Amino acid sequence: MQHNPEPYRIKMVEAIRQTSREERLRLLEQAGYNLFLVPAEAVFIDLLTDSGTGAMSDRQWSALMRGDESYAQARSWFRFYDVVKGITGMEHVLPTHQGRAAENILFSEISKPGLVIPSNSHFDTTRANIEFFGAEAVDLVVPEGHDLHARLPFKGNMDLDRLEALLKAKGREKVPLCMLTVTNNTGGGQPVSLENIRGASALCRAHGVPFFLDACRFAENAWFIQQREEACKAMTVGEIARAMFACADGATMSAKKDGLGNIGGFLALRDGALAVRLKSALILREGFPTYGGLAGRDLEALATGLEEVQDEAYLAARIGQVARFGEALKAAGMPILEPTGGHAVYLDARGAFPHIAPEGLPAQSLTVALYAEGGVRGVEIGSLMFGRTLPDGTFQGADLELVRLAVPRRVYTDNHLGYVAEVAGEIMRRKGTYGGYRIVEEPPFLRHFSARLAPVT
Ligand code: F0G
Repeated sequence: MQHNPEPYRIKMVEAIRQTSREERLRLLEQAGYNLFLVPAEAVFIDLLTDSGTGAMSDRQWSALMRGDESYAQARSWFRFYDVVKGITGMEHVLPTHQGRAAENILFSEISKPGLVIPSNSHFDTTRANIEFFGAEAVDLVVPEGHDLHARLPFKGNMDLDRLEALLKAKGREKVPLCMLTVTNNTGGGQPVSLENIRGASALCRAHGVPFFLDACRFAENAWFIQQREEACKAMTVGEIARAMFACADGATMSAKKDGLGNIGGFLALRDGALAVRLKSALILREGFPTYGGLAGRDLEALATGLEEVQDEAYLAARIGQVARFGEALKAAGMPILEPTGGHAVYLDARGAFPHIAPEGLPAQSLTVALYAEGGVRGVEIGSLMFGRTLPDGTFQGADLELVRLAVPRRVYTDNHLGYVAEVAGEIMRRKGTYGGYRIVEEPPFLRHFSARLAPVT
């Protein structure tokens, strides 16, 4: 079969509006050419993120109505706890309002100056939380993870040789914890194999270092394992997910991704003593341990979402849609990171706009072009996000100049994404006409969220 249709049909729709090119050019100027500052209502196809932007099912909407809003020991908490424990096998669950809150609570206890916390690739908020409390965040993804075009099955894997060298050199005194992000968002949404998860876990156990998963996209990762890892072909996605978590001592999760919710997250732990210490931070920052940062109704919707996300027909349709989107973009002449990952297609802006130097922010130029030409919003992951000006005044660009087009779950049809590919094709036909951008105003940190830019003339 060529088609793998979505195992659901549409019951409710939300109107979206296309704007005129003139209107978009005006809005871009008002927003300082920063897509984070453009009103969402003026975006036609919004691929800024797959986080919290998914469509809930009829089961989830009805679960909201069953939310028990009791302050302590609510029925909805027990439902959420049972589902999370069923997937992770972890006894201690701390609900939070989103993933970074779970990271903040964990690292407020674990991260200290002089310590090192490795990962395949830390997501921005994970890195920021680790660095905020003083430790160094180190990325140890396999070398092929940096190769945009190597068509390999598990480009999100941890480089086990480098992990072992780090563990040997520093020991458990200096490495308080090791993270592994599944799928590897920073590295293009690429999956990590079960063999690699087991290998990283075994190395950490041998050195007495706790091993944690950043599990935002655990189901998408499990699906890739089932499709691509010979030894796991006969396992269900649910079995693979449990095998992944069985390797870990704990996990952080933003349930805004594979929880199929609009808000929510959790921290799961095996270590009861650590859980007791972290619960104090949870109460201070989020709320009583049986609701954390969430309403009872959110806990209900997430419990149902965490069950639904393991449906293999859903995962095949979802990841198949991302792959078809990648093919359509390539056919339109747009260079992309390959193979496509689980949740997004990453455009290679250096390949698309080779005439724009890193200081001209080529990935931002492509992001602006997508909005100007088609009302499409993506996110720049290039020199606007990671570039910096050195003390001697020279500009150090990012390693890669990417634009991420993240696909919200159960929201857009292939027709919407086909339109985005058509817009990309138009841009590629006229690529020489797009120029660079310069920053005219920037905050001291996380500048990509609020910087204002101007076209270079
Ligand atoms: N870890 C990973 C791998 C993520 O992708 C994210 C969020 C987080 C942690 C933090 O979770 O947003 O709930 O606090 N990623 C979003 C994105 C923002 O667009 O990729 P959060």
